[in-house]
Amino acid sequence: MSKKPIIVFEGIEGSGKSHHIRKIVSFLKKNKIDFIYLREPGGNLNSEKIRKLILSKKTKFQPKTDLLLYVAARNENISILKKNYKKKIILIDRFVDSTVAYQHYGMGLNINFINNINKFVLDRLKVDFTFLNVVSEKNMIIRLKKRKRLNRYDKFNKNFYKKVQKGFIKMAKKNPKKYFIVNSNLEIKSNEKLIINKVKKLI
Ligand code: TMP
Repeated sequence: MSKKPIIVFEGIEGSGKSHHIRKIVSFLKKNKIDFIYLREPGGNLNSEKIRKLILSKKTKFQPKTDLLLYVAARNENISILKKNYKKKIILIDRFVDSTVAYQHYGMGLNINFINNINKFVLDRLKVDFTFLNVVSEKNMIIRLKKRKRLNRYDKFNKNFYKKVQKGFIKMAKKNPKKYFIVNSNLEIKSNEKLIINKVKKLI
């Protein structure tokens, strides 16, 4: 595997993925290791504009519109990704698997279309490794309640997130060498250690 991998963090709301990315970011900074970090949707100026459009509580788009906007936001990150591909470690908070999990497994849109449009946008870019954070329904609800600001995608019913998480797990189990499933219901400190140790091996 490349020593400048693309490492993605995935998981449903309240699964703790953003917490763990922050920990990796501070580990890399502390050790003066060069990297870039992006979140999706978002990551750069244009992409963040699209993020606002999709996730605003005032928005009411059709699922297909959401799909096209998520992919459009991704496309705005591609030149940054290509510029740094294999040159720097790339950390991404959500990527193509989120589109399959939310728009296909959650919303029922056609998986072949989603895979094809992702391929079209990604071109030769490939994710090297994914940390999938999974959380119980109970903990997800507790963590969402604690959030001060909820966006449009934080407000679906619990069955939606169940379907999305099942989809993520299905993808991870299909390709176990490229995924690490983090059980976010366990002690956060021990998960931090597990993730850092894995990242050290990947880089
Ligand atoms: P987050 O940045 O707080 O995780 O919120 C982003 C939301 O967007 C989250 O609910 C997942 C959703 N999403 C999709 O539905 N499809 C996608 O392709 C991506 C990247 C995110």
